[in-house]
Amino acid sequence: MSASITIRDVGKRYRSSQGEVVALAATSLTVQPGEFMCIVGPSGCGKSTLLRMLAGIGSYDEGTIQLGNGTDPPRTAMVFQEYALFPWRTVLDNVAFGLEMRNVGHKERQTIALDYLNKVGLTRFAAAYPHQLSGGMKQRVAIARALANQPEILLMDEPFAALDAQTRHLMQEELLRIWEAERKTVVYITHAMEEAVLLGDCVALMTARPGRIKTVYPIALPRPRHLALRTTLAFNELVQTIWNDLVDEVNASRDQEWGDASRLAEAASPPHGEKES
Ligand SMILES: Nc1ncnc2c1ncn2[C@@H]1O[C@H](COP(=O)(O)OP(=O)(O)O)[C@@H](O)[C@H]1O
Ligand SMILES: [Mg+2]
Repeated sequence: MSASITIRDVGKRYRSSQGEVVALAATSLTVQPGEFMCIVGPSGCGKSTLLRMLAGIGSYDEGTIQLGNGTDPPRTAMVFQEYALFPWRTVLDNVAFGLEMRNVGHKERQTIALDYLNKVGLTRFAAAYPHQLSGGMKQRVAIARALANQPEILLMDEPFAALDAQTRHLMQEELLRIWEAERKTVVYITHAMEEAVLLGDCVALMTARPGRIKTVYPIALPRPRHLALRTTLAFNELVQTIWNDLVDEVNASRDQEWGDASRLAEAASPPHGEKES
C-alpha cells in the first residue's frame, strides 16, 4: 500500500531572539502513490523542515498538506542521516520497535522483523547490538525498521550522507532493489545530484531560502535501475541539466549567507560615533 502527498502553498517561519527566518514560502508539490520523489536544494533551503511536516512532527504557518485521501491518515516512517537506533535494544528488537508500539503480538512482530532484516541482508546480526555494527549496517537496520512498520509513505532525509562513497553506492543499489519489491511512496532528500537521478522517478529542485519547489524534473530512465546506469549518456545529461539549475540556487544561497554574516558583523560592531580611530 502506498499513498499520495499533496503540498499546497506551504509557508513556514522560525522565530528566534535573532529575529525571524522564513524557511519555506509558497511550497507546492504533488507525489503520486508509489512514486519515488527526490528533493535536492542548497543547504538551509528548508528540505528537512518540509520532510518533518510530512512526518507530522513539524508545524507550518500557511497552506495545506494532505497525505492519502485525507480521511484516514496514512502511516509514515522516517529514516534520518543519524541512524537513530536504540543502543540498548538488539538489532531485531530495533526493527520490531514500531510494531511493538502498535501492539502487534510478540510472535508476529518477530516474524515481520526477521523478514525485513533478511531483505537488508542482516539476518545474522539479529541478536547483535547497534554498537557492533558499521555505519552502513546501522543504516540498513534503520531502513528495515522503517519498512517493518509497513508505512504507506517512506520519508528519508539524506540517509546515506554519512557513509563512505563505496558503502553509499552499495546502499543505493540495495534501496533500489527493496523499493522495486515494495513500491512505496518515497520522499528522499539528498544533496547528491547523481543519487537523486539514480533513485528518483522525479527530482524536485528547491530554491535558496525561503525554499519553494522551483522545478520538478521527470526522470524517464528505465527500471529496474542499477549503478551501471550512471555510465550512460542519458543519465549524465539529466545530472548536468539539473545541476546547472541547482548552481544558480547555490550561488543565491551563498550570497544570502554572506549578507547574513555582514549584517551580523554590523550589528556586533559599535555604533559609528563610538568607533575607535
Ligand atoms: N528550529 C529552528 N529554529 C530556527 N531556525 C531553524 C530551525 N530549524 C531550521 N531553521 C532554519 O530554517 C532554514 C531551513 O532549515 P532546514 O530545513 O534544516 O534546511 P535544509 O534541510 O534544507 O538544510 C535554515 O535557515 C535553518 O537555519
Ligand atoms: Mg536538512
